Amino acid sequence: MVSKLRIAVLYDRVLVDDDEEPASGDKAPVVRTLDKKEVEEEVAEALAKLGHEPVMYELDGTQKSLLGLARVDGDLVFNLAESFADDDTSDFKIAAFLELLGKKYTGSGSHGLILAQDKAVAKKIFAFHGIHTPTFAKCYRGRLDFSHDLQFPVIVKPAREDGSIGIEFSAVVSSIRELMERMDWLHANFDSPVLIEEYIEGREMYVGVLGNDKPEALPIIELDLSKLPEGTPRIAAAEVKWGKGTRAYRDTKSAVATDLTDDLMQLLQQTAIAAYQALELRDYGRVDMRLQPDGRVQVIEVNPNPWLASRAEFAMAARKSGRTYTQLVAEIVDLALARA
Ligand SMILES: Nc1ncnc2c1ncn2[C@@H]1O[C@H](COP(=O)(O)OP(=O)(O)O)[C@@H](O)[C@H]1O
Ligand SMILES: [Mg+2]
Repeated sequence: MVSKLRIAVLYDRVLVDDDEEPASGDKAPVVRTLDKKEVEEEVAEALAKLGHEPVMYELDGTQKSLLGLARVDGDLVFNLAESFADDDTSDFKIAAFLELLGKKYTGSGSHGLILAQDKAVAKKIFAFHGIHTPTFAKCYRGRLDFSHDLQFPVIVKPAREDGSIGIEFSAVVSSIRELMERMDWLHANFDSPVLIEEYIEGREMYVGVLGNDKPEALPIIELDLSKLPEGTPRIAAAEVKWGKGTRAYRDTKSAVATDLTDDLMQLLQQTAIAAYQALELRDYGRVDMRLQPDGRVQVIEVNPNPWLASRAEFAMAARKSGRTYTQLVAEIVDLALARA
């Protein structure tokens, strides 16, 4: 047990622009409705229980908050920041800033964050390591970066978003016309290259990975998509994650997967560790996979610093592995402190 440390709990807040009209209507993307407030509080509470002194630090999107971070005094930064000024592709820049400041922080480095964020780059790395991932194409405003010979149905998604933003149910398309329309819609709403992936039928499995030298795969969590309204594709769409009050939101639940054979569990866990290591993640991560009816596993994406709320999948899996929430937070702190 380390002695009492001063630990800055770093989290982000979105600047609200009062002049901006919220997008509305059928064609508007489903937006994220953040209730992340409790995450940093839960972590701070756990740190206090461990005998540390947590200091809350909010990145509110202003330059002032960034400059203030340079002056925060402490032994460690517990990095829960995912975005800056409403830009959720900024996580790697925040980590890089901490690196320049010479501050020790939890979770993946700027390097791992950028590899995982760029899904096309991540998929190219998976291919090198023999990790299965759906075949794909990437293009940006009519310019093609790369394409496999794809078969419909495909799923169309922004190459650099997170939290299913830009992935509504209508992201799964079965014809050229739907594909063109969806690409056009994405380019109109997101300034991001578009990823077109072959749609993988199967169960949605999440495996948490904890550790560095010998990463451990946690018990498998399944997001049960079987109760989605008829006619909607079985995906963790934006409606599922953020559509509070809808059936899609209400009827999809994550739980520890209990019916898997040992072989399948091993395959999912080994694949998760391989993907985590391939993208050079640190401390903790969550690998999202699809388990196909024939038993094959495809990696959909890897999440460094996954959402750490005690009710979210990562903590759920840690609990199943026998760790309390406080023990999980302690382990992440120890992993970060062990870095030179
Ligand atoms: N190739 C695919 N085949 C089947 N479902 C997919 C595929 N890609 C994404 N999905 C579905 O969409 C969800 C969100 O996609 P993902 O790439 O993880 O985006 P995000 O980074 O926004 O979470 C996945 O959890 C999965 O349910
Ligand atoms: Mg995902």
